[in-house]
Parts: sequence; structure tokens; C-alpha cells
Amino acid sequence: MRILITGGAGYIGSHTLLSVLAADHQACVIDNFSNSHPDALTRVGRLSNRPFDIHQTDLRDGSALTESVAAFRPDIVVHFAGLKAVGESESHPLSYYEQNVFGTIRLLQAMDAAGCRSIVFSSSATVYGTPQYLPYDEAHPLQPVNPYGRTKYFIEEIIRDWAATDPAKGAMLLRYFNPVGAHESGQIGEDPMGVPNNLMPYIARVAVGRLDRLQVFGDDYDTDDGTGVRDYIHVTDLAEGHLAAINCLQHHRGVEAVNLGTGSGLSVLQMIAAFEAASGKDVPYAIAPRRKGDIDKFWADPERAHRLLGWRARLGIDAMCRSVWNWQSQNPDGYGESPRAG
Ligand code: NAD
Ligand code: WQD
Repeated sequence: MRILITGGAGYIGSHTLLSVLAADHQACVIDNFSNSHPDALTRVGRLSNRPFDIHQTDLRDGSALTESVAAFRPDIVVHFAGLKAVGESESHPLSYYEQNVFGTIRLLQAMDAAGCRSIVFSSSATVYGTPQYLPYDEAHPLQPVNPYGRTKYFIEEIIRDWAATDPAKGAMLLRYFNPVGAHESGQIGEDPMGVPNNLMPYIARVAVGRLDRLQVFGDDYDTDDGTGVRDYIHVTDLAEGHLAAINCLQHHRGVEAVNLGTGSGLSVLQMIAAFEAASGKDVPYAIAPRRKGDIDKFWADPERAHRLLGWRARLGIDAMCRSVWNWQSQNPDGYGESPRAG
């Protein structure tokens, strides 16, 4: 199959690209490198020993995008590209609607022009909002509580309307829980710009000495130890979930929303302890006030992914932490500073 991957240089995209190449698909990456480093793609090339196309294209540039998609003629598009920081989406909502929503509309138009009828979309558990029950299953009401989450919700609806125009169209709306971990080689991994917003990259930078200590946001939540509980999923499992979605789309039509999570949750203190055990490093921390907008706890009902895609997460917290430490200790500065586009 010919698989076009938007945002393929990013954290989840680069791991999925590797899985796609290992499965003998032909791949093309579209990325503007606004939140990634071209070296990630060089490393995927080395690890896979397979060629693939790279287009430095911005999703909002309709004519360049149409040209790139038409030139590759994909069977399926896997759409990761977009902005993902919740706090930034509150201070710059229009930028999020422009890049995420408008960018996706441009992509669907380019796919129509090239006759491509199948898409796998990076949605998020954040579309569910405050849990009305747990675990979240795909029928849980959708009430995202920040602009980032609303872009994911609106894009899901736009893709549903797009798919309804042609019975030959198919879409997988993959709702990721909390992706962590790195490829087993330690050559590619998560490398956020600036101070990380998310727990695992923050822990890794404390362990490697780039940051002094972790702030634990709240210890008075309604959980066993009082700290927030999340469903952390290994990025390698997530990449395999995309392959399963690609395989399913080869015969499946219509739109399916699917959770990609493990089905169980871990607290912040459990994550710190697991990382210390896996790395042999201390992770100093201090209890800090709650972070605005955080929820006590949530985790996935992963059964639909198993029924529909035949996929389950396989890797546990030890493997997640070991792989992060392998990546961070081999690459204390990640991919390095330049030449990121923005
Ligand atoms: P990432 O920032 O590492 O990757 C996104 C990639 O898209 C980057 O390479 C960036 O340069 C590129 N990009 C951004 N805007 C673009 C544009 N306008 N045109 C072309 N390229 C553009 O993020 P990630 O963690 O790999 O996430 C991938 C997708 O998964 C995103 O859509 C994100 O919202 C979603 N998601 C991520 C998480 C998470 O915790 N990492 C959880 C749920 C969903
Ligand atoms: C996990 C836990 C924090 C940092 C976010 C987005 C979500 C999705 C994944 C894209 C919480 C605690 C964190 C720190 C801490 N992204 N924490 N100290 O908030 O579950 O989800 O990323 O779709 O949309 O909202 O993940 O890693 O930020 O936090 O104590 O420095 O760690 O309070 O309990 P979150 P996270």
C-alpha cells in the first residue's frame, strides 16, 4: 500500500513511519517541521533501511499540499500533523483552529483531488471531557473542555461528513490516551521544544539532569495516592495500532472511532517510582498546586480496538520507562537545537 503520513517527523508519526516501512508499505511524509527535527527522518531511514519520500509542506498551503498528495497518489493517509498543547490552545485558539481544523479541510480536499478515500486520524481521549463514567468507551458523550480538544472533536465531525459523501470512503478516528516511550533502539523518541508540558518527558529531563525537579500537580485528587491517574500507552503499541487501522481500512468502509489505550491507569507517584526503578536515577519532586483543567483520573475501555482491529497494547510500564531512559540517556539533548522550522 502507498501510505502518506502527515506529521511523520513528529513523536508518534516517526514511530508509526518505522512500523509502516517495516510492514513493507511505501511511505511519504508531509511535515512543516514546526515541532520536529528532520534528523528524526534521517534516523528512521537508517533504522528501516528503506527509502521514503519527504515533502516539507504546510497543511495550510492548499496548492502545495494538493501537489504533494497528487504526486504520491496514496491509498491511505495517516494524519498526525497539527498542534497539541492544551495551554497554548487556550491562549492562541485561532491558531489551533487554523492549523488543526483548516489544515484537515485542506488535506481532505487534496485527498479528494487525488482520489484517495481512506484516512486514519489522530484524535485524542481529550474529546470525552469530564468522565461521566469510567472507563471511557467510544459511546461516552463528547464534551471537550479546551480549544485543543474541540479541534479534535470538530475534525472528527468533519471527517464523518466527508466520508458520508461516498460509500467507498473510510476513516478511523483513533482516540489516543497518554502516549509515552520510545523506539527500542533509543534512536527516536519524544523531544518536546522548551520545557515539557507532559509528565513523562519532564521526568526524563529531571533524570538526565536538564531540569532540577518535577512538580507533582496536586496530591488531593480522588485517587488511591491523591495524584492524577492516566492510561499511559507505549508509542510502539500505538504505532502497531495504526498499522492495524491501515489493515482494517483495506476492506472496511464508513467511519469508526476507536480508543487506543491499555485499559488501566497509573498515578503520577507510580510513574515516578517506575521510572526510578527502570533508570536507576533519582527523580526529585515536590508537591505543587493542581494544574488548571486537570481531571482526577481516566483510562480507556480498549475492547473495541480488539474487536474491530484485532489490536491490543502489549507493553507495560517497565518497558515504557526503560525505552524512555534508553532514548534520553543516549540523546541527552534530544535531536539537538536547530534546524527546526519554527
Ligand atoms: P508532534 O508535535 O511531535 O508531531 C506533529 C507533527 O506535525 C510535527 O512533526 C509538526 O512539525 C507537524 N506539523 C504541525 N503543524 C503542521 C502543519 N500545519 N503542516 C505540516 N506539518 C505540521 O505531536 P505528536 O505527539 O506526535 O502527536 C501527533 C498527533 O497525535 C497530533 O495530532 C496530536 O494532537 C495527536 N495526539 C497526541 C497525543 C500526545 O500526547 N502526544 C495524545 C493524543 C493525540
Ligand atoms: C499526566 C498527569 C498531571 C506534568 C495531555 C493532554 C491530552 C493528551 C495527552 C493530546 C496529570 C501530571 C504532569 C507535570 C504532573 N494530548 N503532571 N507534573 O494532562 O493527561 O494529557 O497529554 O491529545 O489532551 O491534555 O497528560 O502528561 O500532561 O499529565 O504532576 O509536570 O501528570 O497533572 O495528572 P494529560 P500530562
